[in-house]
Amino acid sequence: MNDVLLCPSMMCADFSKLQEEVKLLDKAGVDIFHMDIMDGSFVPNFSMGIQDFEFVRSATQKQVDVHLMINNPGNYVELFANMGADIIYIHPEADQQPTRTLEKIRTLGKIPGIAINPGTSVASIKELLYLVDYVMVMTVNPGFAGQKYLEFVNGKLEELAAVKSKYEFELMVDGAISPEKIVELSKLGVTGFVLGTSTLFGKEKSYKEIIQETKQTRINV
Ligand code: DX5
Ligand code: ZN
Repeated sequence: MNDVLLCPSMMCADFSKLQEEVKLLDKAGVDIFHMDIMDGSFVPNFSMGIQDFEFVRSATQKQVDVHLMINNPGNYVELFANMGADIIYIHPEADQQPTRTLEKIRTLGKIPGIAINPGTSVASIKELLYLVDYVMVMTVNPGFAGQKYLEFVNGKLEELAAVKSKYEFELMVDGAISPEKIVELSKLGVTGFVLGTSTLFGKEKSYKEIIQETKQTRINV
């Protein structure tokens, strides 16, 4: 079984002590810091800004991804590449030319990924699978933390899991990922999990305990 990738959703962190949050998560053994960027247009919300991204980037040596929930992401991938994003996710639904944007990310020396809305089919993004190293399936409608998991996406996860070795991508999920979901989805072939309010933030246990327990459960699946 592949190693699991645990990615804290930093919009859920306590911003009054962001430096400490990053340090604790880093030490707890998270794999990739997940940074949500919204434009109030592609999704009806705003999240973190450029300064937040720069701060988290400067505060860890680990990989940092950026999940661009913005229209015309091609106009901004260079900005995030220059700021040190390791992985750049775009929504193909928000881009007239996703192929060009994904190639641009690769040319900039960064890792391209796509994030797809719950209503986006595998058939509609199939050709893009040749171009990306990460496919992130939204298991809630993007834009907000603390929503309900949408069960109907499981069929799509099975479809993607069946072709992930052929196209060589990492299968990720984002939205309402609870400890129970991690067990269930690991069995379907999901290897990467964005952790927000459902598993990691605002809990009694420390980040270290949660991350260690999650890695352990995943090994036992
Ligand atoms: C949006 C975010 C959210 C969220 C995940 O892309 O990444 O999906 O913070 O955490 P939950 O849904 O558990 O609050
Ligand atoms: Zn996200």
